[in-house]
Amino acid sequence: MTNAYQQAYDKSLKDPEGFWGEAAKDIHWYKTWDKVLDDSNKPFYRWFVGAETNTCYNAVDRHVEQGRGPQTAIIYDSPVTGTKRKISYDELKDQVSRLAGALAALGVAKGDRVLLYMPMIPEAVVGMLAVARLGAIHSVVFGGFAPTELATRINDAKPKVILSASCGIEGSKVLAYKPMLDEAIAISEHKPGNTIMFQRPQAAAVMDKAGDLDWVEVCAKAKPADCVPVKATDPLYILYTSGTTGQPKGVVRDNGGHMVALMWSMKYVYNIKPGEVFWSASDVGWVVGHSYICYGPLLNGSTTVVYEGKPVGTPDAGAFWRMISEYKMASLFTAPTAFRAIKREDPNGELIKKYDLGSFRALFLAGERSDPDTINWARDHLKVPVVDHWWQTETGWAIAANCLGLHEFPIKPGSPTKPVPGWGLEVLDEGHQPCEAGKVGSLVVRLPLPPGALLTLWNADQRCIDSYYSEFPGCYKTADAGMIDEDGYAYIMSRTDDIINVAGHRLSTGGMEEVLASHPDVAECAVIGVADQLKGQLPLGFICLKAGVTKPHDQVIAEVVRLVREKIGPVAAFKTCTVVNRLPKTRSGKILRGTMQKIADNQDFKMPATIDDPAILDEIEESLESVGYAKARKEPVA
Ligand code: COA
Ligand code: AMP
Repeated sequence: MTNAYQQAYDKSLKDPEGFWGEAAKDIHWYKTWDKVLDDSNKPFYRWFVGAETNTCYNAVDRHVEQGRGPQTAIIYDSPVTGTKRKISYDELKDQVSRLAGALAALGVAKGDRVLLYMPMIPEAVVGMLAVARLGAIHSVVFGGFAPTELATRINDAKPKVILSASCGIEGSKVLAYKPMLDEAIAISEHKPGNTIMFQRPQAAAVMDKAGDLDWVEVCAKAKPADCVPVKATDPLYILYTSGTTGQPKGVVRDNGGHMVALMWSMKYVYNIKPGEVFWSASDVGWVVGHSYICYGPLLNGSTTVVYEGKPVGTPDAGAFWRMISEYKMASLFTAPTAFRAIKREDPNGELIKKYDLGSFRALFLAGERSDPDTINWARDHLKVPVVDHWWQTETGWAIAANCLGLHEFPIKPGSPTKPVPGWGLEVLDEGHQPCEAGKVGSLVVRLPLPPGALLTLWNADQRCIDSYYSEFPGCYKTADAGMIDEDGYAYIMSRTDDIINVAGHRLSTGGMEEVLASHPDVAECAVIGVADQLKGQLPLGFICLKAGVTKPHDQVIAEVVRLVREKIGPVAAFKTCTVVNRLPKTRSGKILRGTMQKIADNQDFKMPATIDDPAILDEIEESLESVGYAKARKEPVA
């Protein structure tokens, strides 16, 4: 007898139309589809073609109509402001339809873009849903990005309106958003018509620009708007993510397929029922926040959580356990970094013992590699399954997981278990041939991707093809290297491009190099990701100075560190940089970043056959030692 997971997995690949057509019955459609899967424009597959629906209706109104109105939809818990609030589905419908009415009065209609630059307050979720209600397209920008990054996104998405709040609160720091937003709008070519600002008492915004509007005032005056039917294939949102250059990729998600996939995942990956509390300790600015703070739990009729705090320090490393116990949560989803931070403060789990975690069934980790130590620590202290699962902004939901709603497999720490139904995961070698079990290669997904994955990149179909579909014909390139073992468990090793993951935040070293190169004293540079015990990885820069620069090295370093913070934002966590005379390169001039990273992390490395001048590696090692890395480097393997 095959288990429920295997049956679902096999059916999803053999008969994707049957599988997803069945799953789609959980969604409300104004009109059902003509075709479950349209493959007439490969590699751009489309799901539920001809169907009409509305995501906000499914996430809010449907539950009110089915009697869930009084149930809590959103728990807001903000230790940094001392606020706790519960919003019922009834209240959520009222707030969302009013904000949608206000947006409609400003001319926002189907297909228009609305950009959100919001801290972790419930209004962020209300904003996303209000945009979806009108059939418009939202683009949420993470609060830790600098005005230049915000301006890049404003220029690309061309929003009609921006939704924001007067400030965000990071631990004990109050960060005023309005000046950053004003600066971004000042430097962007595209000018949005209006900014609707949610005033927070911690730092009121000065409303002195034409088009500035007060959130509470516009909502009070607004006529509530109804849900606008859209095509299943119409975009719901654009979410920008790091690419290999400073120009971020605008991942586009549809309405229909996205809902079907997320509903399915709530049941079968996370095993969460309507009415249960599901907490994603992430940020609405990341894909996890889109899928599992906003849409997944609400589509499922569950209760979601907006937490404005940190895993440690707000007030202590027991913050997560206090939340789980106070709100009787069924599951928590967060990044391994959060657990490493907690483990560091409370290695023996003393704070865990203070709370009743009787409701807690499972912990889900994603966003970066979970190290076995962290997984074992969490399992031993929480005594629940610790499910590592692997996904990307592009995929929108998990590619590999232990699908607790189907079959609970034994956990192998270091592996996110098995490919999730819908994802035809394969490991290919350099010749594009399947790798044998246990051999590392490129992780790819055989097309079609399941519902919920990216439609394309905003205004950049060709970039989408070049980035994901051209290298391995018939497949989606994940840009992760890994393997599948003899039991069918997947292992994710590292990115094959220059993306790094810092505290679960996806960053582009290429983007940072562009900033370093813009400094007038820098002739050449390279940025690599080095291993970090807390954040998983940290960026580390190397700069070669232009001839004739006489400034002290420390001064140039301080300037480039400041520049990255100014241009990309504090989230880049770029704090370490070193000056070198030369960078190691191949004879054709390619910088050997991979070798530099191995030296920094004390890993074995092979002397690259094409290296131009091996002596430069010794200079790099010396330089790394001066900033605390490469202390115990091994000799190159002959
Ligand atoms: N708005 C503004 N600034 C932000 C921000 C936001 N939303 N989020 C982070 N920053 C800032 C931080 O304040 C910090 O600034 P600093 O250099 O002035 O100290 C900087 O960006 C780097 O942030 P981070 O890398 O998160 O480090 P941290 O020391 O502030 O926090 C952790 C460390 C472990 C507590 C934190 O990274 C964490 O909770 N991680 C969980 C991971 C997570 O939620 N990932 C999301 C994907 S699932
Ligand atoms: P993001 O788009 O920010 O979600 O980042 C996606 C990348 O994070 C992936 O391509 C992986 O490199 C990494 N990642 C996400 N989840 C995992 C995981 N469970 N294990 C290993 N790496 C992961």
